[in-house]
Amino acid sequence: MRSWLRGLPPSGAKRASNGYSIHGVDGRSLDQSGAMIDLQGITKVYETDAGPFLALKGIDLQVMPGEFVSVVGKSGSGKSTLINMFTGIDHPTEGEAIVARTRIGQLDEGQMAVWRGRNMGIVFQFFQLLPTLTVIENVMLPMDLCQVYDPDERYERAHHLLDQVGIAADADKFPSAVAGGHQQRAAIARALANDPPIVVADEPTGNLDSKTADAIYQLFESLVAGGKTILMVTHDSELAERVPRTLTLADGEIVNEVVRAPASGQVLNPVAKHRVPDLPDAEE
Ligand SMILES: Nc1ncnc2c1ncn2[C@@H]1O[C@H](COP(=O)(O)OP(=O)(O)OP(=O)(O)O)[C@@H](O)[C@H]1O
Ligand SMILES: [Mg+2]
Repeated sequence: MRSWLRGLPPSGAKRASNGYSIHGVDGRSLDQSGAMIDLQGITKVYETDAGPFLALKGIDLQVMPGEFVSVVGKSGSGKSTLINMFTGIDHPTEGEAIVARTRIGQLDEGQMAVWRGRNMGIVFQFFQLLPTLTVIENVMLPMDLCQVYDPDERYERAHHLLDQVGIAADADKFPSAVAGGHQQRAAIARALANDPPIVVADEPTGNLDSKTADAIYQLFESLVAGGKTILMVTHDSELAERVPRTLTLADGEIVNEVVRAPASGQVLNPVAKHRVPDLPDAEE
């Protein structure tokens, strides 16, 4: 494990006994699937002026606990839509998402907000820090919303998270006064606020120079080493290829899947179960 993850504040003291922080939805937590993210036949149809648009076409996907998965695909292929389906930001038209042992489609809006806050840290391309809050207040916000940690623990935990991502000195600055790479580190600290098992990132390095992108990627590697499950959408094919498992989306379908040995980046097992005939081989 990398040094920045060592010594994180203790987590879990107030967590549910099922280990995945499913609060207030007793009877809906599931144990039969070992997957952390289990998508079953997810279809998404958007109603547009031009008629229904099929953005996702029956996606089946299992991501196991501790996996680091990258998702690539052209603009418009459905990557963000896919994320929206299992973060509860939007609902599938058909199919079911079972995440951290919860059928998220069964949660009402209030349950969903709390469930998401406790189980999932989300990192976006443009950081999406609240501009009127300082960096440390941004990190404390999810803790205030979800109340996993006692009020008197929150400041200290937020400070520690900022320290661990290397930007403790920025704690009291407003986001506008902080460089992009540091804003993204702050967004990662915010994503970790409630110690969620899952981190989801939609183009987290899309707005960063390559050196900063590399540093952010290393933070993700550290998180995986610490036991998090990460799904990262990226346009950066070099970055995607450093991740042990890469899925390619095209026109709302998973059209390729590659699994690599984490250390060497060598392709071990190109699964390609959804491969379409006219795509190049993943091993190229
Ligand atoms: N709310 C919406 N209403 C109608 N169509 C939508 C909506 N959201 C997305 N789409 C369409 O669904 C398709 C997939 O969009 P999505 O944003 O998931 O793509 P993406 O792979 O994330 O693209 P990018 O790389 O540009 O972020 C696109 O054709 C998009 O125009
Ligand atoms: Mg997108």
